[in-house]
Amino acid sequence: MTNWIDFYDFKHSVIYVNARHRDVHYRTIAEDIRKLVPSPSAHVLDYGCGEATSAGLVAAAAGQLTLVEAAPNVRASLAQRYAGDANIAVISAEQAAVLPKGSLDLIVMHSVAQYLSAAELDRLLALFRTLLKPGGLFVLGDIVPPHLAAPAAALSLLRFGAANGFFWAAAGGLMRIFLSDYLRLRKTVGLSHYAEADMLERLKRAGYAPQRTGHNIGHNQQRMTFLCRVVGQ
Ligand SMILES: C[S@@+](CC[C@H](N)C(=O)[O-])C[C@H]1O[C@@H](n2cnc3c(N)ncnc32)[C@H](O)[C@@H]1O
Repeated sequence: MTNWIDFYDFKHSVIYVNARHRDVHYRTIAEDIRKLVPSPSAHVLDYGCGEATSAGLVAAAAGQLTLVEAAPNVRASLAQRYAGDANIAVISAEQAAVLPKGSLDLIVMHSVAQYLSAAELDRLLALFRTLLKPGGLFVLGDIVPPHLAAPAAALSLLRFGAANGFFWAAAGGLMRIFLSDYLRLRKTVGLSHYAEADMLERLKRAGYAPQRTGHNIGHNQQRMTFLCRVVGQ
């Protein structure tokens, strides 16, 4: 395993301590994303959607939902899961790069930026800007600040487990994560962290009018979500 896409390319990633954790996690995210859908006819794209077990909630509030997943096994299981949903499409990162310009109302990228180099993130920011319609919205979620990222994430998972009936599974799951390739990849490939001011600056440079929200999508409130309107289109 040499990169983060491989790490996530399991049918059930080690990052979710059990099926309940995975499903509560994705339901929490989908409920937050659903609130951001601008209209019932909106075309929404979720980039790096992961297992997205509650994508139906988002799709029900939108005209069309496109799920983009780079990990091939995860993508195959998404395609199977949503085969019967006429307004959900599942595509690869390469296919996302050639979507029609100006065709999307909302793009969400949640909990993915930490796995990208700064240059990769900049390339995606530029791509998303071209894919969005004038006045479209890009939502960048789960940005990890530089300090205490790992202890804060562990504590947040334990709290999330306690609130949703899987505390002991969360404690066991943390051990499994630390025994997995996670730590080795963190050392060799690294994770990207951003301070709020740095991310705001980066987003402005990429042609957005960004604003940090008071609530991060999902359960980890140590991390940050930015709402980014396209400017100058
Ligand atoms: C923590 S999961 C996030 C899944 C979902 N968005 C969520 O919030 O639960 C990280 C996702 O980033 C994707 N990813 C990692 N490295 C990537 C890369 N270089 N390009 C595109 N996607 C990547 C993985 O395939 C995985 O789906």
